[in-house]
Amino acid sequence: MNILLLGSGGREHAIAWKIKQSAKVQNLYIAPGNAGTSSVGINLPIAADDFVNLKKAVIEKQIDMVVVGPEDPLVKGVYDFFKQDAELKNIPVVGPSKEGAQLEGSKDFSKQFMFRHQIPTAGYLSVTASTIDSGIDFLKKLKAPYVLKADGLAAGKGVLIINELEEAISELRNMLDGKFGAASTTVVIEEFLSGIECSVFVISDGTNYKILPVAKDYKRVGEGDKGLNTGGMGAVSPVSFADEVFMQKVEERIIKPTVNGLKAEGIDYKGFIFFGLINVENEPYTIEYNARMGDPETEAVMLRVKSDLVDLFEGVANGNLNEKTLEIDPRFAVTVMLVSGGYPEAYEKGKVITGLDKVQNSIAFHAGTALKDGAVVTNGGRVIAVSSYGNTKAEALAQSFANAQVISFDKKYFRSDIGFDL
Ligand code: AMP
Ligand code: GLY
Repeated sequence: MNILLLGSGGREHAIAWKIKQSAKVQNLYIAPGNAGTSSVGINLPIAADDFVNLKKAVIEKQIDMVVVGPEDPLVKGVYDFFKQDAELKNIPVVGPSKEGAQLEGSKDFSKQFMFRHQIPTAGYLSVTASTIDSGIDFLKKLKAPYVLKADGLAAGKGVLIINELEEAISELRNMLDGKFGAASTTVVIEEFLSGIECSVFVISDGTNYKILPVAKDYKRVGEGDKGLNTGGMGAVSPVSFADEVFMQKVEERIIKPTVNGLKAEGIDYKGFIFFGLINVENEPYTIEYNARMGDPETEAVMLRVKSDLVDLFEGVANGNLNEKTLEIDPRFAVTVMLVSGGYPEAYEKGKVITGLDKVQNSIAFHAGTALKDGAVVTNGGRVIAVSSYGNTKAEALAQSFANAQVISFDKKYFRSDIGFDL
């Protein structure tokens, strides 16, 4: 079959790499892709949310299945666009409906959903400009630190964690005044939870689900988890504290009520669910949902999926995921992100990347890269995710760090302490 994958990051290169291993695939297309995806499939110069041109490509290339990487096209309704189009409606889209993607697209929606289904999460209050006084009262009742979240998508920047009450009140005003544009017209104020986080991924056909390998990502730019938040500087899988007992709680208290809750509410959800969890004294709480896989977690998780990913996708499309098997590689998998100096603030693009051909015993997934005059050049803040297996976490990390040195570009930076806290 012919598959079209949407997106252009490290996550998409890793998914493309895994799709390509399936004997079921004839042609793999990626829209728009990056320099790395062009080595496993055919890039199409179409933005992932340009539905009209995606439709043309799907018909022209005789696509049999669409797999969605990032949240943007999901929140904009790519699933519904296909379902409602006479020529596209029989082509399965792996990814939730627009309504399902609200689990990620609206923090207020996701908190209401969790409370409706008694899914453990932080206490909260959602406020708008007209209810700001109740928001201030709620903040006064909470203990520091204070968590303020823009309701809508804010490119990963919409969450503020503030130590002082006065500052929290003033930031609440700023947010409702448009600090994050329309995304913060509604602000979710949350109780602060203290613990260690992990990312749990599930693939669901709307009734059945499979739990993919658990991972932990490293969001801060600096070593020791200091400095600004990034899209993610690395990831490891498995996660030591997410043991059988913990995962049993996650499945019973969080995964099952989520999948069953979506179904009971008539929300079409055939795709990945990303549970951002926090372990508070061995009890799992949901910090957030995402309607997609994590990046860079995917660049570790895909290494540990032994089964045919396309077979699993067929299970999602046909509603018989329960008849499929998901076999997990018992080894460790890690990824170390090479980023452009300056990221997550200002950085330069267009730097030539060398050494990719010298990488041994790791996989260099491309994140922000492009082809320019035959050379691979940097094209984003996160550039290359160096992924490796190991019989131990240390072995896998040593492999990635060794290859992180082999790959070069001007102002390259990476964290050499990924996995340090586990
Ligand atoms: P989110 O976009 O909701 O995942 O929030 C971004 C990050 O903020 C999370 O990964 C957590 O590290 C932190 N965070 C969000 N909500 C809370 C909370 N209620 N308590 C503690 N930390 C939080
Ligand atoms: N690594 C976290 C995310 O993809 O949102």
